[in-house]
Amino acid sequence: MNEITLIVNGTPHRTRVSDSALLLDVLREQAGCTSVREGCGVGACGACTVLVGETSVSSCLALATRYDGANITTAEGLDENDDVVSAFADCGAAQCGYCIPGFVLMTRELLAEHPRPTSEQITEHLEGNICRCGTYPEIRTAVSTAAERRSPR
Ligand code: FES
Ligand code: FES
Repeated sequence: MNEITLIVNGTPHRTRVSDSALLLDVLREQAGCTSVREGCGVGACGACTVLVGETSVSSCLALATRYDGANITTAEGLDENDDVVSAFADCGAAQCGYCIPGFVLMTRELLAEHPRPTSEQITEHLEGNICRCGTYPEIRTAVSTAAERRSPR
């Protein structure tokens, strides 16, 4: 077992994990972050996305021991006043909502890199995220809306 500290949404969580423990499971079971979801479990759907610093990570593929001391953001760290969260809500970009935390975190990463992303950049950045409900048009509108609100022309 290994003792590690994850800084989750600004709060340190000191915990003991096995060598093979996945970041996904530690965040869900030990830090209470149930917005981090297991869809495919093999890095192909984006439901388990978290931000480490400003970089997206598929937590289903990440060994928790590698993230000792890391600053991790999950959807629990964003309230309804967050500009991306509010854009998703205002644009109706969710049906069941299962995929949405991953899309929101990917959008934050995208806007940090490209404050006014082109349509192609939105498509490219979100291509690893799957929405079984098919709310892609609303999600794309939400991304553009968040960008517009954050960086008005
Ligand atoms: S559960 Fe991690 S990418 Fe699908
Ligand atoms: S809103 Fe249901 S999976 Fe995306």
